[in-house]
Amino acid sequence: MGSTKEKNTQNDTNVVLEIEDLQLGFGEKKVLKGFNLKLFKGEKLAVMGRSGSGKSVLIKCVVGLIEPDNGRIEVLGKDISGLDQNMMDDLRADIGFLFQGSALYDSMTVRENLEFPLRRHTEKFNPDKTDKMVQEALEHVDLEKAIDLMPAELSGGMARRVALARALILEPKIIFYDEPTTGLDPITAKEIVNLMNEVQKKFKASSLIITHDVDCVRRFADRIILLLDGQNYVEGTFEELSSSEDPKANMFFK
Ligand SMILES: Nc1ncnc2c1ncn2[C@@H]1O[C@H](COP(=O)(O)OP(=O)(O)O)[C@@H](O)[C@H]1O
Ligand SMILES: [Mg+2]
Repeated sequence: MGSTKEKNTQNDTNVVLEIEDLQLGFGEKKVLKGFNLKLFKGEKLAVMGRSGSGKSVLIKCVVGLIEPDNGRIEVLGKDISGLDQNMMDDLRADIGFLFQGSALYDSMTVRENLEFPLRRHTEKFNPDKTDKMVQEALEHVDLEKAIDLMPAELSGGMARRVALARALILEPKIIFYDEPTTGLDPITAKEIVNLMNEVQKKFKASSLIITHDVDCVRRFADRIILLLDGQNYVEGTFEELSSSEDPKANMFFK
């Protein structure tokens, strides 16, 4: 008994994100009904669920954009409900967020889009280094040449890579990917997943990806949680879940 407990404690020191009993509704509609997860250091965890199952709102709760009705969220050891605006901003500097659909600012060049998080977190870097950081971030995604382009001049895959560079520019400890491959053709989607894997190695980050793209999950995730009806339905590796005999688990992999 004693040794089991010790083992759990040991594991818990490696938890970078913990969500406990997360509940959220809009009016009468309950979207999350007690969702739980732990993301471990260096891990690549996927949450899979159908469209409208609450994946994006889950991440928005974690980064403090939406306040849940109930539940506890701890990011890098801090309970976010106890944080004021400044503390939350500090914490966000350690989090990279690739929004669904890239979400670049249309009226800004690629360079300005990448400078944006830097300007918000001046305490974390020396402003003299802005140019160098922007350049390096673009090198990570192999797009140095796009630095002065406008978002409208980028292909879908390029825009996604710029968005990835923007998510990485502050060298975050945790990266959230919201549907990183949705809307891309299969070859471009594969390139994005390869980049995500490279980034993971380079930065030794911990990643949480939410998606319904099976191929992306297969190539990226160490572990998968299925979100169904607002709760954890089942979790396991890709091999475990894709060969599951449970039809509800299996339907994602068909
Ligand atoms: N701001 C909002 N106001 C009302 N309903 C919302 C809001 N944001 C999301 N929803 C609803 O919550 C559900 C989950 O949305 P979302 O998390 O975006 O789903 P997905 O899993 O596709 O990312 C959907 O039914 C959506 O319509
Ligand atoms: Mg979504």
